[in-house]
Amino acid sequence: MTEPVLDVHLTPEDAAVALRAEARAGLTAYPKWVSPKWFYDAVGSRLFEEITRLPEYYPTRAEREILLERAAEVAATTGAHALVELGSGSSEKTRLLLSALRDQGSLREFVPLDVSSSALVEAARAILADYPGLHVHGVVGDFTEHLDLLPGTSPRLVAFLGGTIGNLIPEERAKFLSSVRDVLDEGEWLLLGTDLVKDPDVLVRAYDDARGVTAEFNRNVLRVLDRELDADFDPDDFAHVALWNAEEEWIEMRLRAVRPVEAHVAALDLDVTFAEGEELRTEVSAKFRREGVERELGAAGFELHRWWTDAEGRFALSLARA
Ligand code: AVJ
Repeated sequence: MTEPVLDVHLTPEDAAVALRAEARAGLTAYPKWVSPKWFYDAVGSRLFEEITRLPEYYPTRAEREILLERAAEVAATTGAHALVELGSGSSEKTRLLLSALRDQGSLREFVPLDVSSSALVEAARAILADYPGLHVHGVVGDFTEHLDLLPGTSPRLVAFLGGTIGNLIPEERAKFLSSVRDVLDEGEWLLLGTDLVKDPDVLVRAYDDARGVTAEFNRNVLRVLDRELDADFDPDDFAHVALWNAEEEWIEMRLRAVRPVEAHVAALDLDVTFAEGEELRTEVSAKFRREGVERELGAAGFELHRWWTDAEGRFALSLARA
């Protein structure tokens, strides 16, 4: 079996430096925040997989429904030689796209990009096993920073699925979409998954499930800080909060101190205190409308070519042309 090729633009040391800088900024800010990037250690990734199977968490199933129906059309429209996937890269959804491109005979290369080299190698190997002869060229990098050197033979199809673009605030989205557009040649493609604005009760339930899996996922970020920054947060001191911010049209996840907390973050030589009831923002998950997606794509230099939703209109896939 051929081995995957890996380009490393982000070493574990780079990631540690970035975590320290961001953690210091967020933990000394008011209100306090940490980046949702840090959810995905081994435990967090497993908890997220579990979330995607919860009855309340519809986005994964809704996006799969669209791809099952439309992957062949994506392949036919784009004729892509390379599939570039931002984030993860071994999911069932990736395979739907790869298989559609293979079946029409255009697929040559798969380029997964992820911050975790272990996740990437595992994903690349799994894909290689199922698509013999495919060139797999992984990139270890942060999709908000390392798009400048994307490999892959034109025409490329960049897929950014799952609604993860919702983790970015509007200014970050604008910058991100422009940087994707900048690495693409005219006529190349972006396939973008976005969760849609809907009944706030449905949204809040998706981020505050009855079994408490999302609460565990949220609190796990404190274990990541404890391990990576030699901190002494106790996850039991914090309650999970998920709320709909109607003004911004995003879900926010927070951790609320259930008692006064004094923590020490040794790697930052930083003391952090929370008053009882004080909250730490851990994630923004923006929800979209068609007009907004079309406008943001247009501002970045993309033309919205196709807009598909699941039958219930909960989630959308946009196919945009550079
Ligand atoms: C992986 C970022 C798309 O925002 O819905 C799931 C992460 N957070 N439950 C999302 C998440 C809480 C998820 N994304």
